[in-house]
Amino acid sequence: MRDNIDLVIFGSQGDLAKRKLLPALYRLDKADLLPDNARIASVARHQISTNIYLSQVQENLQQVIPKKEWDNKVWTRFKRRIYYIKVDFSQKKQFNHVSDWMEENRKVIFYLATPPSLYESICKHMASTGCVSENTRIVLEKPIGHDLRSSKQVNDAVGQYFSEKNIFRIDHYLGKETVQNLLALRFANRIINSQWDNKCIDHIQITAAETVGIEGRWSYYDTVGQLRDMFQNHLLQLLCMVAMEPPNSLKAEEIRAEKIKLLRALRPIGSDKVDDYVVRGQYTNGWIDGKPVVGYLEEEGAENSNSNNETFVAIKVEIDNWRWAGVPFYMRTGKRLNAKHTEIIIAYKESSHSIIADKPLDSSNKLVIRLQPNEGIELEMISKKQSLKQRLSTEKRVLNLDFHDSDSDKRVVDAYERLFLELIKGDQWLFVSREEIETSWDWCDQIIDAWNKNKSPTRLYSAGSGGPAKAEVLIESDGRSWHGQ
Ligand code: BG6
Repeated sequence: MRDNIDLVIFGSQGDLAKRKLLPALYRLDKADLLPDNARIASVARHQISTNIYLSQVQENLQQVIPKKEWDNKVWTRFKRRIYYIKVDFSQKKQFNHVSDWMEENRKVIFYLATPPSLYESICKHMASTGCVSENTRIVLEKPIGHDLRSSKQVNDAVGQYFSEKNIFRIDHYLGKETVQNLLALRFANRIINSQWDNKCIDHIQITAAETVGIEGRWSYYDTVGQLRDMFQNHLLQLLCMVAMEPPNSLKAEEIRAEKIKLLRALRPIGSDKVDDYVVRGQYTNGWIDGKPVVGYLEEEGAENSNSNNETFVAIKVEIDNWRWAGVPFYMRTGKRLNAKHTEIIIAYKESSHSIIADKPLDSSNKLVIRLQPNEGIELEMISKKQSLKQRLSTEKRVLNLDFHDSDSDKRVVDAYERLFLELIKGDQWLFVSREEIETSWDWCDQIIDAWNKNKSPTRLYSAGSGGPAKAEVLIESDGRSWHGQ
């Protein structure tokens, strides 16, 4: 590839740059997918030389990337692309170090891997030191605001310096292979898309369970909670991919239009319904993978806090449109649960009339879409038991499409690799528009307001469990149950 691309990463000493961004760029270079003369500027406030920075990057990459993937030749090429630039983000003048480094006739992408509170001042300083032109792209990480009002402020602030077509808002779930595979599954398989509505589907479940806690991020997380940290973005994006109408094409504007339509059709959950439709939970101490872990209020930073912030949320979501009227979506996400897994369950209606008496208790078909770990798709089918003793007895069997082939060296690419590629191409299809973010906030804000108004309780659950018991009640009171329970 011959594109002249300069990528400038602000916050290059942060966790995201170390764990995700630089490993993704190294892997793209290894796969020959970085433009030949792409350059990378790592910007942070530390006073270190490029050489020292490079030895830190090498050490860090070798921790993140498995030995068998490491290639010294690639590293030699990769490190030649990297420059370290020291900038104190509060000092406008220091942004001249960035503009001095930039060259004419190169496409520039600024990646803000910094706390969002710095977005506005970074954009302002870049603009006033001549770093921004009509074609400069900017990448924003979540969270964009913590409610509708503040997200508008962030978007307005960045919008003063960058046009919407050049603002790339990341939701890394959209970069996951299996999330894109939802598009292939839905829109390239007639057998699936002809059965994708309230005539055939009974309900849908979306679960994003994590075993990690708040990972030392108390001061951030306690002002945010799981609804804002995971639900407003990742889970609502998954919901869009599952439930939006077929876009006319895979162009960004077509996909975004369908997602916005879907988000606007979410039935509001106000204070009259919040306690029946939403479960808020917080973990107490418990055991994960055989090891004891502390409760949320004993986490580092929580000293003497009696915060009722949620680390778990489950919501029954209803969609007011023709396709989904009457089909509930049960969605949940939480920290310190018993396993890390993200999955979508499409639970079909049972046959309208059964002529087979001997069948499993739950004889509905289920399509299980596993996003992580062990990416794949399973279809639970009813088939005849192989037996001469019974006349026609049936059981559940599973058709399995496994993307995670444990026998091969093929790894599932990381979300950030895909997102960087689209960024370099300038294609927004896997990035989130301003309107999507604001529509999602609008819906979530009503829940947060209702919690505050109703003083909704936070239900406790032990770390290592499946979440608060009330989350079972949420689905069981409708005569259904969470998949796998
Ligand atoms: C991030 C959240 O956006 O997503 C984290 O801030 C969360 O709290 C993470 O742990 C989960 O991402 P993944 O890809 O591990 O499911």
